[in-house]
Amino acid sequence: MSDTRAVVVDPEAPGRLVIRAVPGPVPDRGEAVVRVRALSLNRGEVRRSGMAAAGWRPGWDLAGEVERAAADGSGPRAGARVVGMLPEGAWAERLAVPTHALAELPDTVTLSQAATFPVAGLTALLALGKRGPLLGRRVLVTGATGGVGDFAVQLARLAGAHVTASARRADQAPALRALGAHEVVVGDAIPPSPKYDLVVESVGGRTLGTALGALARGGMCVTLGVSASAEVTFDAREFFIAGRTTLYGFYLFTELGSEPASVGLRRLADLVAAGQLTPHVSLERPWTEIARVAQDLMARRFPGKAVLTL
Ligand SMILES: NC(=O)c1ccc[n+]([C@@H]2O[C@H](COP(=O)([O-])OP(=O)(O)OC[C@H]3O[C@@H](n4cnc5c(N)ncnc54)[C@H](OP(=O)(O)O)[C@@H]3O)[C@@H](O)[C@H]2O)c1
Repeated sequence: MSDTRAVVVDPEAPGRLVIRAVPGPVPDRGEAVVRVRALSLNRGEVRRSGMAAAGWRPGWDLAGEVERAAADGSGPRAGARVVGMLPEGAWAERLAVPTHALAELPDTVTLSQAATFPVAGLTALLALGKRGPLLGRRVLVTGATGGVGDFAVQLARLAGAHVTASARRADQAPALRALGAHEVVVGDAIPPSPKYDLVVESVGGRTLGTALGALARGGMCVTLGVSASAEVTFDAREFFIAGRTTLYGFYLFTELGSEPASVGLRRLADLVAAGQLTPHVSLERPWTEIARVAQDLMARRFPGKAVLTL
């Protein structure tokens, strides 16, 4: 198959990311060939790009059109508009994508919106599912202004929870309330009360340490990120005294072993089509600007998600 172009790590280039010609996709029977039109960036893959060896191809999130349907007959037909994800290498013009990681999009969902679903949207959706039904439960979302947090606040509200968002600065509070948060706590420490049934925690450090002391009886803290720090100290007594509290380690690619990505991607797409969920695309640029956008993401120069178009 003819060459295509992809984002590749080049340690000599400014921002370490360049677009290069690479071999074209060679699909297995259960894979469709997708012409990528939009992609989004996530903190984890950008962080890894900063350390990876020359030639590594980052990229998890993609949206585009099916150029050739899977040979085994599974998944969307040729011409369908789709969102999908790969464990790496998704930032390319043309890709082979397993059909279990692809979902067809309703007409009203744009490819830019869809590109935000895979890692950020699925992480929020699946993390919120860890504590059972959320109707009437108290949920705390930390890192609420980020890609995952933005989806988590909206989805927790949609699920009927009483939602508290945690943010670094007071000026971020109005936007979080507009998103659906009932309350906003400001700063890197979570106050010991009120208590929460579920915490979706992506900041680490002092935020995780103090959140563990703010769990209600039977409460669960889902730890999934360490944007501030991976090292945490916490008051063990505050954590266990509430009774039956748990700390759940969440890694999206492991979670997708129990339910294929296609299922959650379609749920997110349907919620957007129904007007119940709004992806927060705060930056949209051509993919040739990837190195600069990646640096802006790591420096937190924009909230929500960045999308690059091809
Ligand atoms: N375990 C998994 O499977 C999984 C899946 C997805 C994401 N993650 C991880 O979860 C975290 C959140 O992902 P994301 O895509 O939402 O990231 P993001 O868009 O970069 O958002 C980061 C969030 O953390 C806040 N934050 C607080 N202290 C920070 C610090 N010292 N440095 C940077 N941000 C800080 C930011 O607040 P401001 O707006 O004030 O900057 C923002 O709300 C990341 O660490 C990511 O690697 C893990």
